[in-house]
Amino acid sequence: MRAILAAVSMFQAVITGDCLLCEQCFALHTSSCSGIITQCPPDVTHCVAGLENSTLGTHVILTAFKDCLEPSQKAACGRELSFNPPAGNLWTNSRCCDSDFCNSGDVKVPPPDNTPNGYICEGCTSDQSAQLCTETEDVQCTGKQNTCGTFKGTVSRPGEAGGEYTFKGCTTQDFCKFGIFNLASTQTHDYGLKCFPALKV
Ligand SMILES: *[C@@H]1O[C@H](CO)[C@@H](O)[C@H](O)[C@H]1NC(C)=O
Repeated sequence: MRAILAAVSMFQAVITGDCLLCEQCFALHTSSCSGIITQCPPDVTHCVAGLENSTLGTHVILTAFKDCLEPSQKAACGRELSFNPPAGNLWTNSRCCDSDFCNSGDVKVPPPDNTPNGYICEGCTSDQSAQLCTETEDVQCTGKQNTCGTFKGTVSRPGEAGGEYTFKGCTTQDFCKFGIFNLASTQTHDYGLKCFPALKV
């Protein structure tokens, strides 16, 4: 009897404790995932659910993720982070919420807006970052992209060996501010990212 009572009160402590409960999952090549309910560390105030779509050449990696939100990543919640060099595309968006289990169910984030918006940037993609890209072409910016970005560094995507790249293309201001630290799936190391306002034509 005592054991049962202890188990019941432990269960209640988990359910009514101060720590937030969030669903946690990470899945490739899909727009949804479901996983275990996890108890977040005490400093976590929000759960997150989101999608990341990373394309390099013809290889698309779509990732769905749900987790406890790292407090340092709160500023990126609900922001569209995207970067479009000529031979690639990186887009992510996430939704954050602050009650137990609130990130369960379908991942609901606004889809990318691919409508050209009149801004252009110089674009280039090179996999030898020792050299800057030599061949450049203009790229059309879309949706909220009003910024040109140059990225140089090591990029590794899930299931792939990391490589060194230089990318130039259109990006959202939010990507320049938050993007690189907030990616759930693609990882970057030893990088530099420079951004400046795009030109409208
Ligand atoms: C992911 O990106 C690719 C290429 O940019 C696109 O064809 C595909 O529709 C995107 N998927 C989603 C779910 O946004």
